[in-house]
Amino acid sequence: MGVERPGTETWALADSLAEMAHLAQTAGIAVVGEVSQRLRSVSPATLIGKGKVEEIRELRGGLTYELIIFDDDLSPSQQHNLEREFGVPVIDRAALILQIFGQRARTHEGRLQVELAKWEYMLPRLAGQWTHLERQAGGTGTRGGPGETQLEADRRDARQRIGELKSEIARVRQRRELHRRHRVEEGLPVVALVGNTNAGKSTLLNALTDAGTLAEDRLFATLDPTTRRFTTPSGNQFLLTDTVGFIQKLPPTLVAAFRATLEELESADLLLHVVDASHPNFAAQARVVHQVLAELGLSDRPVITALNKIDLLAPADGRAGGGAPEEVPSWPSGATFDPTATPVSAVRGWGFELLIARVEAALARRWVVVTVCVPYQADQLIQLFRQRARLADEKYTPDGALLSGQLPERYVSQFRSFLI
Ligand code: GTP
Repeated sequence: MGVERPGTETWALADSLAEMAHLAQTAGIAVVGEVSQRLRSVSPATLIGKGKVEEIRELRGGLTYELIIFDDDLSPSQQHNLEREFGVPVIDRAALILQIFGQRARTHEGRLQVELAKWEYMLPRLAGQWTHLERQAGGTGTRGGPGETQLEADRRDARQRIGELKSEIARVRQRRELHRRHRVEEGLPVVALVGNTNAGKSTLLNALTDAGTLAEDRLFATLDPTTRRFTTPSGNQFLLTDTVGFIQKLPPTLVAAFRATLEELESADLLLHVVDASHPNFAAQARVVHQVLAELGLSDRPVITALNKIDLLAPADGRAGGGAPEEVPSWPSGATFDPTATPVSAVRGWGFELLIARVEAALARRWVVVTVCVPYQADQLIQLFRQRARLADEKYTPDGALLSGQLPERYVSQFRSFLI
């Protein structure tokens, strides 16, 4: 069930519903029908109007359905009222995505985040039909003393579990932060793959590194960050890290569950934006990605765009079966990309050479040519320079080690007082 509210939509209703149908399939749900409504004003009790409720009920005559999914957020009471009206469970986009997250989370932290998001989603819904889910999620604790109702006890248990999960997540994060700092200290530049869900990030990561990350034609195949070391043909190394797919209308309750993977982006030197160029709505998807990056404060990070799945596009001369990068057709209307946008096919291995060269070039721009004179007592800094810089010259003077070469930008500040 999709709702169009004039003036508030960034995506066309049909596109948003198509994406949700894909989400539903990912969760193992078969879509048997679609209903939409253009709403001038929202009905507080049921979101959609009375007539629409009636229409969906009447569909039952010719159509068997067991679940109704709303593309928009429903308040707990709307959800409750709609379930009463329809006699089948009603969920919203947030619940659907939660379901998928639950199936997909692989790391300890990912699972904790999803469980937390689930509890936070359920807490205000405990009075309604959602109580049965709370039981499945493993409600613990004892029933309270005299006078405490079942509902109060349930809420208390939920809050307690939310508190436990939050502190466990904080502990896991601290550990992860340590690992990340280690990697950064190792000095390798970090390239993070970003893009709409299903754009082909995992496939590209696999194809480039043979990393074996899960890649499936399902949304959110990746819920946890995966990082692999990559060596270019010319011998340069960088770390390539996969992130969760972006999606429009990400329910606020789920933003935190995303953060586990998006935090990896903070340490990224370069973002590799993977776009599914075969998707009819790819320009809008690319905009969502830029929007999320801006929200995460990453607008300043250099971006290289990979226009993926070009094997699915008909070549300019109309031959079927797609074309190699050099014969890429003109892009669907309205698309503008930066000049470094590189057509690739992750499954066919097309365009990799150019893509890698552009990544290398972008990373190389982050090297700074410096000469420093480091006193001998700052032994560690001398070591750091020799390990991390592309050393051009090295002399030992009475004042200290005179070193020159290209240094990754991020180390320059440590040498500030020794620059010559
Ligand atoms: P999330 O984990 O949901 O964020 O997705 P992702 O961006 O990691 O996408 P993934 O690599 O899982 O690929 C999604 C689907 O697109 C899979 O079925 C891939 O086989 C398919 N795919 C990826 N790259 C290409 C390509 O270049 N050409 C074609 N034809 N299919 C591709």
